[in-house]
Amino acid sequence: MKDFLGRLGIREVNSGACAGAWLDTKGDDLVSFCPADEKPIATVRQANEEDYEAVVRAAHDAFLKWRMLPAPKRGEIVRQMGEALREKKEDLGRLVSYEMGKILSEGLGEVQEAIDIADFSVGLSRQLYGLSMHSERPLHRMYEQWHPLGVVGIVSAFNFPVAVWAWNAMIAAVCGDTMIWKPSSQTPLAAIATQNIMNEVLDRNGFPGVMALVIGRGSTVGERMIQDRRIPLISATGSCRMGRRIGEVVAKRLGRTILELGGNNAILVDETADLDMALRAILFGAVGTAGQRCTSTRRIFVHRKVHAELVKKLVAAYRSVPIGDPLDPKTLMGPLVNEAAVETMEQAIAEAVREGGKVLAGGNRKKGPGFFVEPTIVEARPDMKIVREETFAPILYVFPYDDLDQAIAWHNGVDQGLSSAIFTRDLLHAETFLSHRGSDCGIANVNIGTSGAEIGGAFGGEKDTGGGREAGSDSWKAYMRRQTCTINWGKELPLAQGVKFDLE
Ligand code: UN1
Repeated sequence: MKDFLGRLGIREVNSGACAGAWLDTKGDDLVSFCPADEKPIATVRQANEEDYEAVVRAAHDAFLKWRMLPAPKRGEIVRQMGEALREKKEDLGRLVSYEMGKILSEGLGEVQEAIDIADFSVGLSRQLYGLSMHSERPLHRMYEQWHPLGVVGIVSAFNFPVAVWAWNAMIAAVCGDTMIWKPSSQTPLAAIATQNIMNEVLDRNGFPGVMALVIGRGSTVGERMIQDRRIPLISATGSCRMGRRIGEVVAKRLGRTILELGGNNAILVDETADLDMALRAILFGAVGTAGQRCTSTRRIFVHRKVHAELVKKLVAAYRSVPIGDPLDPKTLMGPLVNEAAVETMEQAIAEAVREGGKVLAGGNRKKGPGFFVEPTIVEARPDMKIVREETFAPILYVFPYDDLDQAIAWHNGVDQGLSSAIFTRDLLHAETFLSHRGSDCGIANVNIGTSGAEIGGAFGGEKDTGGGREAGSDSWKAYMRRQTCTINWGKELPLAQGVKFDLE
């Protein structure tokens, strides 16, 4: 076993559920494989329905206690969590790379993102502000306050196995909620390691069970969780298909959701753009994380005047991307997460070619072991069916354009609406792109790529991306319940809107 696994508390066989303490789980075994060498890393004994029940009960009991702790005191415990993550950053970042295949620098960046949101949440714990209003009635006071919501369900995806959980968990924790985390079956060990780090802090402070974990099948444990009326909020990251199911089930019981689903993110490069800067942003956006971010750049619209030049540079850059072991510091692109991801990529490329697309770079899988592929550029047309789909792989579709409004219409002409960017040195183009007739996405950048957002802003997107917002800004409001309070400190009972209702 690699040393860092031991230091993170990963054993050969691990429990798949934590409810204050690790449970003796009774579900079937799940083996986690390294996508770079296809070798097993460790086994997880998953949770079954009975284990799930124990986890919910513990999370609910923990909630009754946790909500009584003043928010700044909860913030102090979250501060310790940030410190604990700092101490384990190197090991945890390494595990993320090893288990899901992103390069080490990105694995470390992911843990940094968790640290950042912990820091943000510490400050937030003293800023859970409500408004006060002027009542229309004399001697009346009116204000709103925010209360903890309850047990929050967090469903996370393989591609950000720590950070996206942390966006939800750190904020939910300062808001006074407890939570149950259901991670992706592709990355159970990153979740177990993170849970171990959190357990140490929570136990030390006398609050075990505030953060619970359940690793189990979507069809059993996952379904149970989304149907569970004891969980008022489900925050889920994943595919549009998964989000549709969760949205439907939770809406049926009038629960709340935060959905962060697929993206089909594009960059516009106009005739005034700094092409070298655009090139670097496109490369990071499309090739980084092997194209497996929700925010990955999947399409570029390039003004015809600079199209040939930029495409030539891109093709040259794509051919020189070092692909290989994600833990090797020279590597820029690791493997895809599994065999199915490679097949999906191959099918998408074949479909693009069938529809008249032309492969300009890459296009093939690489020899194993490991799920390695070549980053791929396809010259395409905006009306092709495949370019409207999110393929979770490093495929970049390129399109020339002549007119900015036309390019914006193509840009917006897909079902997803997560992230977007324009490269330009023309103020009018930049402002057009950011205006209400510009990008329709939740994130819109100028001279910055589509991926790699900071935690301080609200993260999420429109249309089929699901409309949810996580992380910074005022996203915390989704994790609390708002209460409007009106207090009459006079001796009369005046009614609002001037209504009279008195007995003679
Ligand atoms: C995701 O892919 O689900 O903006 C999250 C980014 C990262 C988070 C991506 N900060 O690319």
